[in-house]
Amino acid sequence: MDKFVVQGGMKLKGTVQASGAKNASLALMPATLLASGEYKLHNTPILRDVATMSRLLETMGLKISRDDHTLTIDSSTITSFEAPYEHVKKMRASIYVLGPLVGRFGQADVSLPGGCAWGPRPVNLHIEGLRKLGAEIELEGGYIRARAKRLRGARIVFDVSSVGATGNVMMAAVLAQGTTVIDNAAMEPEIAALGQFLKSMGARIDGVGTNHLEIEGVDALHPAECVTIPDRIETGTLLIAAALVGDKNSSVRIERCTPSHLSAVTTKLEDVGATLTIGKDFIEIVPPESIRPINITTSIYSGFPTDMQAQWIALMSLAQGMSIITETIYSDRFMHVPELIRLGCNITVKDNIATVVGVNRLTGAKVMSTDLRASASLILAGLAAEGTTEVLRVYHLDRGYEQIEKKLASLGAEIERATGEEF
Ligand code: EPZ
Repeated sequence: MDKFVVQGGMKLKGTVQASGAKNASLALMPATLLASGEYKLHNTPILRDVATMSRLLETMGLKISRDDHTLTIDSSTITSFEAPYEHVKKMRASIYVLGPLVGRFGQADVSLPGGCAWGPRPVNLHIEGLRKLGAEIELEGGYIRARAKRLRGARIVFDVSSVGATGNVMMAAVLAQGTTVIDNAAMEPEIAALGQFLKSMGARIDGVGTNHLEIEGVDALHPAECVTIPDRIETGTLLIAAALVGDKNSSVRIERCTPSHLSAVTTKLEDVGATLTIGKDFIEIVPPESIRPINITTSIYSGFPTDMQAQWIALMSLAQGMSIITETIYSDRFMHVPELIRLGCNITVKDNIATVVGVNRLTGAKVMSTDLRASASLILAGLAAEGTTEVLRVYHLDRGYEQIEKKLASLGAEIERATGEEF
């Protein structure tokens, strides 16, 4: 398995481009099940999770090819309505095939996703939403077995705002008979991107980007092309790297991003003392003289994203004082904390609250990745630590960051990938 070897102490400056959004691609790709034909998804990031989704769709008969960052998907032949455990256990987002399969074919057998590093990841909202649309759903042998004649529009209110459940129900409803209303729908930009893509395929959806969606079912859709939105979490992660170890006499500029998708993060970085210049498709950051301790509470969009919580803790670990990080989306998403403590961070966690007391220095160590965003926080801390940090099992990072080591190295970081050893 690969590891990253990070030499701390380097100062970052220069320009880097953001890649396409992982969590948009993982929703757009299964949407191609909704109509036969050829689709082109531009600016699709080169990631393990995208490869996993490609392999799943190929087992269902779709033909997928990649030319640089353009994915061509031909869904003319669909030979299976099943998402087997082997795929779903690798990536929870595999469940996104459920909605389109039930919506178009009235049939789906999708393995229940396991938990993940930080706890259970239920799918009750997905199931309840599809049942309201008229699907018969049995949970049997670790699978969600769904059957339906033709789905019928319904009024659905999600008890909890759920990105995945909103995506699945939206993809099921676009071919249902009649109107579906979804309240408390997720508003994340990746779900808005899915809604726009479905509309470009002929779907009738009002309220895209809001938490109130009205979907008028149609009899058929058609293939389309789209340009995947930039990855707001990758952009935020690179911004925090710059705030932590940027050259104070220079700046880091992130291009091809969508600043409005991470205004909660940029605002908090300004509170920390960084100076940001925000353009239409770029953000330039000058690091703070010293890092002010700033509390955050994760929230649904457009609040502070839970996927930036681990990275924020890394930043606060070198702040001039104490800060409180409250995680409201997941219970127990703090697997990164014990590893950060090994680098010298002073963090205590009680219930869903992490208290971080800033320290003057971190020291490099061997640390273990546990999940995607936790790994990113370890890299960030390693950049700021004195000496060498080895981040093990970076396959977690490869799931959601396209060549992050090359992007950081292009800004001046000393980070390299080592392969081969069993860590
Ligand atoms: C998406 O996961 C993202 N993944 C996650 O990003 C992100 O952390 C999450 O949304 C929240 O923003 C993708 O888009 C592929 P949810 P998802 O359903 O859809 C509870 C990353 O790092 N819930 O919005 O699985 C759930 O337990 C990943 O890129 C139910 O109770 O998240 C959680 O507490 C990690 N029942 C909350 O809702 C359900 O049926 C939000 O989960 C579904 C969810």
